[in-house]
Amino acid sequence: MLIKQPPDVPESEVTPRDHFLNRRRFLAGTTMAGLSLGAGAYLFGKSKNSQAESIQKLVAPRHAEFSVDEKPNSYKDVTTYNNFYEFGLGKDQPAENAHTLKTRPWTVRIEGEVAKGRTIGIEELLKLAPLEERVYRFRCVEAWSMVIPWIGFSFAELAKIVQPTSRAKFVQFVTLKDTAQMPGQKSWVLDWPYLEALRMDEAIHPLTLLCLGVYGEVLPNQNGAPVRLIVPWKYGFKSIKSIVAIRFTEEQPTTTWAKQGPSEYGFYANVNPEVDHPRWTQASERRIGELRRRKTLPFNGYAEQVAKLYQGMDLRRFF
Ligand code: MTE
Repeated sequence: MLIKQPPDVPESEVTPRDHFLNRRRFLAGTTMAGLSLGAGAYLFGKSKNSQAESIQKLVAPRHAEFSVDEKPNSYKDVTTYNNFYEFGLGKDQPAENAHTLKTRPWTVRIEGEVAKGRTIGIEELLKLAPLEERVYRFRCVEAWSMVIPWIGFSFAELAKIVQPTSRAKFVQFVTLKDTAQMPGQKSWVLDWPYLEALRMDEAIHPLTLLCLGVYGEVLPNQNGAPVRLIVPWKYGFKSIKSIVAIRFTEEQPTTTWAKQGPSEYGFYANVNPEVDHPRWTQASERRIGELRRRKTLPFNGYAEQVAKLYQGMDLRRFF
């Protein structure tokens, strides 16, 4: 697919965040796809801030070993500065528009190379394994970052139950496709549904979180309700939202961003300060809410836990 690239609007390091967000409103976002659409009114109709809805509590004990000792971003940052193209390209659009997503009833189909393929309802999924709060660093390929208290359990818990066969080498995740609930899918900006995938050893690494909540509540719609993935050592685009299907495969599956721009978005997408994206440095990042830039850490600071998964691989080639 041809990617049109209008001139980039640089993310100013010195613009206070409120000014920055207001400016975003006018620009309707400078996006990962390099597009600047006025993707507003005609697709989304009446907007309503999803936060206004009463959200269900989801409390879980903190997993100390897997949590970073850094101050989390505010609830407001986490729930109003989002990337969720199914609800618009601007960072503030998912919070405005995602109220059309219906998260109950919800099922996740698990299929492919598994002995016990099945469909799991969201209520059962919530009880599948003990929930934990994990405060993770989250690094977007657009060179901004946050620290977020997610809630969920390791994806490995689910894998154990469905029993992957010996042929299962990868896992593909699929977002809901429904233009009535996700009006952004009427636009051609991405090839829908949003697809992501991991190698099997990445998927069952204990840090890979099947995420059901944030900040002591079930996920707000704009954050990928009712179930999403969080892979903290990879760029945020791997952390797919609103999952309806999980496929265990023998061959490496397609992913939305690799299809969109294979030279820009690699399959692995491990946070790597030494390999720049053509439009964003990956050597440093701006923590949302701060003005200064921080150095980006290899594997987003999780090298000790995950670098061994990539031993012997040329990470410039497999970016
Ligand atoms: N999942 C779907 N289905 N659609 C998307 O547009 N955006 C990705 C990822 N998952 C996206 C998605 C990107 S680019 C990022 S940075 C993170 O979600 C953002 O997650 P957050 O909004 O909860 O911070």
